[in-house]
Amino acid sequence: MIETVKRLYEERFATPAILVKAPGRINLIGEHTDYNNGFVMPAAIDKAMYFAMGKQNAGNLNTVYSVNYKEEISFTITSENPLPAWGRYLKAILTIFSDRGLSIAKINCILGGDIPVGAGLSSSAALCCGFIFGLSDLFDLNLSKKEIALIAQEAEHRIGLNCGLMDQYAVLFGKEDHVFCLDCQTLGLNYFPMKLEDYALVLINSKIEHELEGSPYNDRRNSCEAVVAIIAKDHPEVKSLRDVKKNLLVLYKEQISSLDFIRAKYVLDENERVAQMIEALERARFAEVGEILFRGHQGMSEEYDISLPEIDYLVELARAEPAILGSRMMGGGFGGCTINLVEKQNSTRALQTIKKKYLAKTGIEAEIYEIKLCDGLQKVEI
Ligand code: GLA
Repeated sequence: MIETVKRLYEERFATPAILVKAPGRINLIGEHTDYNNGFVMPAAIDKAMYFAMGKQNAGNLNTVYSVNYKEEISFTITSENPLPAWGRYLKAILTIFSDRGLSIAKINCILGGDIPVGAGLSSSAALCCGFIFGLSDLFDLNLSKKEIALIAQEAEHRIGLNCGLMDQYAVLFGKEDHVFCLDCQTLGLNYFPMKLEDYALVLINSKIEHELEGSPYNDRRNSCEAVVAIIAKDHPEVKSLRDVKKNLLVLYKEQISSLDFIRAKYVLDENERVAQMIEALERARFAEVGEILFRGHQGMSEEYDISLPEIDYLVELARAEPAILGSRMMGGGFGGCTINLVEKQNSTRALQTIKKKYLAKTGIEAEIYEIKLCDGLQKVEI
């Protein structure tokens, strides 16, 4: 794909000034904890978005072509022509640059990649971080990774998803063969070598594309913030669910709606699962790693209520396979991939069985991805 975006850029414009690679991500555990200042455990993967970019000499419109959508858009931050979803992110980014007084001129860009969209692999974070990095590099803005992450997050917020920072940090800070634990309160991160020995991580794409923008995701965030607001009345030091211990939450049970209570409890449990995961990984207790994945899914499905019957079925099928130690839905929810810890030796048949049964029940052809953990966003030599 890197060759394709470069060649298309040369054919359409000239030699690109820069090439950028922005990977997608997985998350081992810690779902919907990031916007609660909690803990997450993501990694960048070997699926990525590639950008060929250059400045325009003359021209009033930014021109961007998407290889995946076979679609070219020309726009400025004030133009009113309707844009496809991917174009709206780019326009949001350019608007944020303008709002922040970050000085740039018009650009040309060809982009494309192999991160499936709506699969919970952060294709939009890769799109945003890659584009922002490209602009920063082209116009010598020297934005730090943290600044890039914050601008990418703001673009998501402007599009309508009040996300946290996990995806952007995974895209930017990924490290080959490592996962990292991000403390979303301090934004400090710790890398852990992912030595899975006889096991491997495999994604099963349900092929149900999630649409996170809009209510269900933001609604979960609102629940968490409502709980914080109630507790903070008596405890001003409580700024987020990170500052709430379980016994404190229980004291407020009567004052909180039962729905919000269950959701807040899920978040506290999920933060604990991150700590448990670190311990299980450090001790190479893979059966326990798998159990934590299953428990995480149960929380997302039964408590946080962000799963779907089809995804629950994928996890149920995984549970029935001895060669699969653990499985859970990954990412924001309402579709996308499950992440599975599998025995390297015996998983092929198990995964095929799951695929077959899933097809029989849902009529959907699931996709299976074996993944490698990779370095985060980088400039590619031309
Ligand atoms: C989406 C959001 C992230 C995070 C996850 C759930 O990917 O963009 O910020 O909240 O969902 O863990």
